[in-house]
Amino acid sequence: MARAAPERSASLHADPGAPRHVAIIMDGNGRWASERGLPRLAGHRAGADNLQRVLRTLDSSGVGFVTLYAFSTENWNRPTAEVNGLLELMRSVIGDCVEELHQRKVRIRHLGELDNIPASLADATREAVERTARNTGLNLCVAFDYGGRSEVVRAVRRIVASGVSEDEVTEQLIRDNLYLPDVPDPDLIIRTAGEQRLSNFLIWQAAYSEYYQTPAYWPDFDDVEVERALNEFKRRRRRFGALPEE
Ligand code: FPP
Repeated sequence: MARAAPERSASLHADPGAPRHVAIIMDGNGRWASERGLPRLAGHRAGADNLQRVLRTLDSSGVGFVTLYAFSTENWNRPTAEVNGLLELMRSVIGDCVEELHQRKVRIRHLGELDNIPASLADATREAVERTARNTGLNLCVAFDYGGRSEVVRAVRRIVASGVSEDEVTEQLIRDNLYLPDVPDPDLIIRTAGEQRLSNFLIWQAAYSEYYQTPAYWPDFDDVEVERALNEFKRRRRRFGALPEE
């Protein structure tokens, strides 16, 4: 009897030097589109089409957590048509991708607020999170209606409301009140499209993250680009404020 082919494992080519958590600021969709004479939403669509490719590559490289900055609290200030287009895109990404991600044992998480987005999208997000909650593969954290400062304000409010005394307030307590307290800090933050700023992304968690930027626009951020970023990470010597070992 023929032996069953070994199940393809996400960690088949896992690299022990890979970052545990990669967070990505997916920038440049608009520029990608305007350089092609297309409307900005076409750029966002191309950006959405790039998600699965990047996730697969990161997963097979041994990365355990990926956080994507999909919609910031500041993105509400964009023209209404673009905001609606991004909300619609999020809905279709959930519709198109959750089943495949679930099959690949990806656990979907959300960070940000669900109260300001249409109820049907909020429900679809909650369902995706619940459906995949017991998956043991890659943790995919989607920052949607997310802002780092709001996250810290929310944490402080929760702490104050809990009635703890002043000397009980610690870094750990603040961390415990972030959106996803069990998710480790990002080791590597990638920003596409050449800008060199954090734009209110994971401002608490990024204290000791390595930062990497590439001129590539997000829709063009392919496997070669992912590999470049991971290789650059491997070359970094992280000291977390201490001196290098003798
Ligand atoms: C920044 O590019 C990108 C965004 C504000 C949205 C990111 C969304 C995606 C990659 C699509 C996937 C979406 C969801 C909802 C899961 P930009 O518009 O600021 O580009 P620009 O700086 O070139 O104008």
